[in-house]
Amino acid sequence: MKMNIALVPGDGIGPEIIAEAVKVLEKVGEVYGHEFCFDHLIAGGASIDLNGVPLTEETINRAKAADAVMLGAVGGPKWDNEPGPNRPERALLGLRSSLGLFCNLRPAIIYPELSEASPLKSEVVANGIDIMVVRELTGGIYFGEKGRKDDAAYDVMYYSRPEIERISKKAFDAAMLRDKHVTVVDKANVLESSRLWREVTKEVAASYPEVTLDYMYVDNAAMQLVKNPGQFDVVLTENMFGDILSDEASMITGSIGMLPSASLREDKFGMYEPIHGSAPDIAGKGISNPIATILSAAMMLRYTFSLEKEADAIERAVKEALRDGLRTMDIKKNDEKASSTEEAGLEIVRRIR
Ligand code: IPM
Ligand code: MG
Repeated sequence: MKMNIALVPGDGIGPEIIAEAVKVLEKVGEVYGHEFCFDHLIAGGASIDLNGVPLTEETINRAKAADAVMLGAVGGPKWDNEPGPNRPERALLGLRSSLGLFCNLRPAIIYPELSEASPLKSEVVANGIDIMVVRELTGGIYFGEKGRKDDAAYDVMYYSRPEIERISKKAFDAAMLRDKHVTVVDKANVLESSRLWREVTKEVAASYPEVTLDYMYVDNAAMQLVKNPGQFDVVLTENMFGDILSDEASMITGSIGMLPSASLREDKFGMYEPIHGSAPDIAGKGISNPIATILSAAMMLRYTFSLEKEADAIERAVKEALRDGLRTMDIKKNDEKASSTEEAGLEIVRRIR
């Protein structure tokens, strides 16, 4: 199979982790007889430096022309004083909305090899953590009307029925392949938009009689995630709550440098990126953990290209490397030696078969 992939390395550690994911994909191509064509695109702070804006039409068009996009990370202190509409993050938001990627899947799992890395007490994580956060990605307060009026500012949280419906179906579909349990997280005791989410999710649930549906207020969900994370299977939520809870969910697994994500729409196209950010403090030192990006590549093979075997091969290689002691700086214990970004990539490449 021939695959056209747009690479958006971005800023900070973005380029170094993307480079390792590319090596892994090339090895997969070699072993399984596929060809990857990579188109390197510039976005985020790198694009501000080059073009004066975080995202150009050209980048959008070339991303659209690809089968899938792999993104590193955007942003950094260098661009912190850019005005709102010109911040590097706008590249990410612009790509998500112009590509129509409304469905964001963020798995948060504990790797048994790293179970001690969780900041939670061992009895709390005894049964493991395996949560899929399904975050609505192109609506809500992120994209509602925003502005200034006199000495006030506003951001509108707006959701239409079809927007809620399509993401809900994705969440229920995901639940059908897992433990068949969806928790809708909202603030229905305060927000009208949350009350519409409850109405619509109830209707969608009618087509999935096997799936248990429950509702939780977002403040309680934030607490329950640290108190009893094992109670969650699929967490379905709107854009901003999903942003906040997915950081929390990934942190409690102790493996924020390990978690991938997929941003999807109705067809096979998708954008794949690590959950973590651009980590400017360690950029260029060659010590970042490329695993989240490598696992994002596996998600890409699975969701966009339906290459299940190949995706499994990457995930297996990562697990084996961890089992054999691969530890980057972020996941090592005090006395362990840390691998560099390149060494980590190599250890995984070696185990692709
Ligand atoms: C994320 C990030 C982005 C978001 C930022 C960088 C705009 O935090 O992907 O979770 O808020 O969606
Ligand atoms: Mg976030």
